[in-house]
Amino acid sequence: MAGMSDIAFFKADASDRLFAERISGAADERLAAVLCKVAEHAHAIIRETRPSLSDWRAAIEFLTEVGHLCDERRQEWVLVSDLLGTSTLVDALNSDRPEQATPNTMRGPFYRDDVPLMQQGGNISLDGIGSPVAITVSILDLDGSPIPGARLETWQANAQGFYENQQPDLQPEHNLRGHFVSGDDGKVSYFTIRPSGYEVPKDGPLGDLLQRLGAPLCRPAHIYFQVSADDYETLTTQIFDGDDPNLGTDPLFSVKPGLIGCFKPDATGRTVLRLDVEFHLNPLPPEPRS
Ligand SMILES: [Fe+2]
Repeated sequence: MAGMSDIAFFKADASDRLFAERISGAADERLAAVLCKVAEHAHAIIRETRPSLSDWRAAIEFLTEVGHLCDERRQEWVLVSDLLGTSTLVDALNSDRPEQATPNTMRGPFYRDDVPLMQQGGNISLDGIGSPVAITVSILDLDGSPIPGARLETWQANAQGFYENQQPDLQPEHNLRGHFVSGDDGKVSYFTIRPSGYEVPKDGPLGDLLQRLGAPLCRPAHIYFQVSADDYETLTTQIFDGDDPNLGTDPLFSVKPGLIGCFKPDATGRTVLRLDVEFHLNPLPPEPRS
């Protein structure tokens, strides 16, 4: 029988260290180190906020409810990560780029990779509903030189804030999605309509909680782009409507300097707005010599 002196008893002021000792021999040192950090911060939060037993039960019920909402069509945990800003933080720490490079944002859940290639000058608004916009995207390197032959994919919500794959019975297939290749001048020009912002899903436990706390849930209007070219890092980003009143309170924390667009009246006087966008791609690091 072990003596009392051999037993490391639980102490509230050092509770996380006891857990850390139990996995100190793990073969996967990185996993053990990360889990120790999780325990350290979780125990510190509990010591600081001192939840009652019923507070703790409510927290467990909240996490359980989030899990129960997940299925093949809905991933509530991703929404939790997004709305807490942790998704954007992970993305930011994994896309450390030079200042001149266009910042990355998350790709979001509405991307499709099966959009047919279109000719420049085409219109991605297949139902023609909304305020027309002529967009020119310039795809450039960090020095401002054009990148010909780059692949540009774009997707956006309609004027009511819905993506085509959210409304398969109301919008034509591939509505407001485009796939283009840049010309010798690095440019892609096409027509679309001005998108609207939208609320993130608020019928789940986190949406409910954030509404009770008065947190903003309206995303400012935006257009997604994914740009890829040989020898450059693929860029996934969003351009936000600079006139949107929710620009400063994006619930997904994606608005960054350099990603705010300006819809201007078209110089020709037609009832078409113009949006000019510049993307600066970061070159891939040179291949290591073997
Ligand atoms: Fe979106």
